[in-house]
Amino acid sequence: MGLISLLKKKNRKLLFTTPSHGQKFFIFHKFRQFYKYDISETDAHNPQEALYAAEKKAALVYRTNYTKFLTNGSTSGIIASVLACTKNGDKVLLWKHSHPCHKNAVKLAGCEPVFYELDEIEAWGIPDRTPPELIENYLKSGNIKAVIITSPSYEGIVSDICAIKNVCKKYYAYLIVDEAHGALYPFSDELPQSAVNIADFTVQSLHKTAGGLNPTALLHSNCDIDPSEALDMINTTSPSYPLLATIEANINYLNSKKGRLAIKQLVEEINDIKTGCKNLEFFGDDPLKILIKKENLSGYELSELLFEKYNIEDEKTNEKSTMLLCGIGTDKKKLERLKKVLLKI
Ligand SMILES: Cc1ncc(COP(=O)(O)O)c(C=O)c1O
Repeated sequence: MGLISLLKKKNRKLLFTTPSHGQKFFIFHKFRQFYKYDISETDAHNPQEALYAAEKKAALVYRTNYTKFLTNGSTSGIIASVLACTKNGDKVLLWKHSHPCHKNAVKLAGCEPVFYELDEIEAWGIPDRTPPELIENYLKSGNIKAVIITSPSYEGIVSDICAIKNVCKKYYAYLIVDEAHGALYPFSDELPQSAVNIADFTVQSLHKTAGGLNPTALLHSNCDIDPSEALDMINTTSPSYPLLATIEANINYLNSKKGRLAIKQLVEEINDIKTGCKNLEFFGDDPLKILIKKENLSGYELSELLFEKYNIEDEKTNEKSTMLLCGIGTDKKKLERLKKVLLKI
């Protein structure tokens, strides 16, 4: 039995266990339903077993060796990956300007960081993809145990994960891919190829583009290392089963006909904006990231114009360009409104 079915079952026992709200004492009434499903691992229903069953089912969906549900974001997935495949004193290759969790993971594992730099795509003010040759140069001279890559980048630039994996394999280094922004990739041929079946470890934030609640995420292992032990070192022993159940539901939805169709339609709607707005320039590998530039306006000016005049808030802006993030919850109406605004700029 998975988590969703387990939480729906009524418990007829008189509980003298944690949590003390006993699924009935609603201090915060608006969250009644949440309290009702908030059971603990001591509950007679054995939610741990249900969690393992749900994770096993997810591993079948993603075709991975292990898929673990995370309730502390991709941050915890990156930390657990590094802890799982390195030991104290090992060298780890990582991007100098990566998300802070990469450096923290290396620090927590007692490893030595080796930093690489990426070129900038000057016209857009964003970091370029990670070249496999760059990684190979470091691996050649280093004794490096693990490599961490961010793909897609925040702005939607995708690296050649297959080529990077081949390089890592040649030098016996583990490849960890931060795919925090690519959680929809495994469910559509119209999106870039996911690293899930290529890298040794891949982390994905469900809460960023895949409709999940903050801070739900996934850690996939494609090698023979089960990351459970590493996760146990950093996770609470009192996980939130309602949050974990949303992860199970999230995967069920993305993998359903309805979910796959929704992604397809979303890509079509965004492509329609990109082909329709001839007054703007668009860029990037990820169809779900609307990275835009307008002649004679800086990225900051464009961002301010969208915000002040049209009540539209972007996700990230730099001197050259502005990025609007879309995901499974970005509906047609919102995109139609955006298109109307963009045509006026
Ligand atoms: C590229 C990248 N990696 C990792 C993270 C951390 O993800 P989470 O918020 O799910 O912990 C973020 C968050 O912004 C990110 O942008």
